[in-house]
Amino acid sequence: MADPQVVTVESLSQEWRELLDAAARAREGAYAPYSRFPVGAAVRAASGRVYAGSNVENAAFGLTVCAERVAIWKAISEGERKLAALAVITETGTTPCGSCLQVMAEFASDMPILVADTQGRAWLTTLREVLPYPFPHTSIQK
Ligand code: THU
Repeated sequence: MADPQVVTVESLSQEWRELLDAAARAREGAYAPYSRFPVGAAVRAASGRVYAGSNVENAAFGLTVCAERVAIWKAISEGERKLAALAVITETGTTPCGSCLQVMAEFASDMPILVADTQGRAWLTTLREVLPYPFPHTSIQK
């Protein structure tokens, strides 16, 4: 995989800034008492609307849900069926986990993903780049 393209938050377009701001606001509402690693995410649906979410942890750790999936489920449950872009912000700037990527692949064949840290740095990548072969990928040649 090629290294993601590093950008500064100041150089981002108005649309990306809006998405990242929504993700950062959502991060403020994270419920992460166990990991103490708050995550904020925001998706822009094909309609143009933005949906944001944070991680929501549970004392039974396996029930924890990532910020990306909370944001996506908000969008889908509001009637959206296609995602256009996603931004995620954590203290250190971390890419979405594999489970979240597979959920993204359900609603986007590809889309740009902005990964930001809380120091004003960001990395622009794409869903296809970080998950080139989502399930069900069926191109095994005989
Ligand atoms: N987390 C996310 O919200 N998104 C990811 O892509 C990876 C991890 C959350 C889950 C848990 O609450 C905390 O970060 C530490 O794993």
